[in-house]
Amino acid sequence: MKTNNNDSVHSKPPMTEPLESQSDSKSRITRRAVLGVGLATATGAGATGYAATRYLRAESAPESQEHPESTDGDPDQQYHLTATIGELDVAPGETIETWLYNDQYPGPELRVEEGERVQITVENDLPEETSVHWHGMALKDANEMDGVPGVTQPPIEPSDEFVYEFDVAPTGTHWYHSHVGLQLDRGLLGPLIVEEADPHVEYDREHTIVLDEYLASEPEVTSEGMGMMGGFPGAPPYDGTLVNGKLPSEPDTLTVMEGERVRLRFLNAGSATTYRVAIAGHPMEITHADGPGVEPVEVDGFDIGMGERFDAIITANEPGTWEIQVHPLGEEAPAGRATLQYEETDDEEPRDELSGSQLLDYSDLRAVDSLDQYDGSPDYTIDLDLSSGGMMGGGDEDEWTINGQAYPDADPLRIEEGEHVQVQVTNHSPMRHPMHLHGHHFEVDGALQDTVTVPGHMGQRTLNFVADNPGDWFFHCHNLYHMETGMVRVFEYD
Ligand code: C2O
Ligand code: CU
Repeated sequence: MKTNNNDSVHSKPPMTEPLESQSDSKSRITRRAVLGVGLATATGAGATGYAATRYLRAESAPESQEHPESTDGDPDQQYHLTATIGELDVAPGETIETWLYNDQYPGPELRVEEGERVQITVENDLPEETSVHWHGMALKDANEMDGVPGVTQPPIEPSDEFVYEFDVAPTGTHWYHSHVGLQLDRGLLGPLIVEEADPHVEYDREHTIVLDEYLASEPEVTSEGMGMMGGFPGAPPYDGTLVNGKLPSEPDTLTVMEGERVRLRFLNAGSATTYRVAIAGHPMEITHADGPGVEPVEVDGFDIGMGERFDAIITANEPGTWEIQVHPLGEEAPAGRATLQYEETDDEEPRDELSGSQLLDYSDLRAVDSLDQYDGSPDYTIDLDLSSGGMMGGGDEDEWTINGQAYPDADPLRIEEGEHVQVQVTNHSPMRHPMHLHGHHFEVDGALQDTVTVPGHMGQRTLNFVADNPGDWFFHCHNLYHMETGMVRVFEYD
């Protein structure tokens, strides 16, 4: 992809260069043997993912599914997802075999309306066990629908199925993905959109934009080295960046009409990459973060961590063909792109001049919903230190730890129903960690999110949530390779 060095209109430095200060992973050495983490291959019986094995050791998993009893009435929407091995065309002549929902990548967009109840039957045609997590869903009184094997349900065995059923909330851009081992990085993911009855912003049209890495080989835990600091368990080197399943050689085209306001739902479904996103020629109003609305804030670009969502509205007032640019931050993988195409314009080489260089900062986000319940002093506070086993006491060097413990050898965090919980997360490592809490949105810096990136080198975030949904809820880094190697705790309450 071309960089923006011929831009004569805008004098500020282009955002097209990734930040160098955040070197997530410069050199990488495959260290499969040392780590001993053989990913199950698709060769049949007994092939069980590493994480699945670990999660199964956790206690108190329910034995079998009690069929959902639709206590809140019949579902308004029913879906069927089949997890299978399939083929993915990422560019002309470039096809890989991977794992898919309903033979599609991204998986089918599940679209429901505010207040509805949804039933989703997940059928497992994979050679190993699986499960589906509904990332962003509150799952009020439905912890058993959360999709974490060994914690909230037994895994779905090959040839078996599981019926998920829950009330959809909160509204906004969410997603679903496998929660077993490294399956997410094979392509088992899709958007889950909960339409607002009465959006706080107006728009004429919308598009969903799913960002992900392109990995032509099977996922496996490797070592991301940082020179003197030794290695950290991490992702394999990626082969590119997919935007709606397409490499930049044949990008997805998003159509707009002059004069429209267009809502773009961005979802970082990547397993190990933070992306910097900008749309040439168009400033964006950020209107939603992880689903819920925020007061619109105008930016020229934003960084989006693994698992995070940002909705942006653009005003289509620059007829032409423009690039939507997606740069992996601190990674060597090539950038990705999609094309913003005005209907009135003939196809032409997309223009790449950015609208400016103002980047979104978390502190710019102001929730539209009331934050009153997070006022006052917390009932329960906890400091969580993110680190690798190799850096601080506790854990082995092939593990990522929270307060020195690597899941599943980690103490649960016991809280009580009704408590205002405050979590201060401090990142002792040089890498970013996008921390995700299941079953709750938390207040962070004035916004309501379910995933927040904690910057490296002693970066801190303070999260507040209300324990209003009893159950066992995963809290983990959404870098899949960090989760897989231990960066997980479970909040427990009944
Ligand atoms: Cu999107 Cu536990 O994850
Ligand atoms: Cu992490």
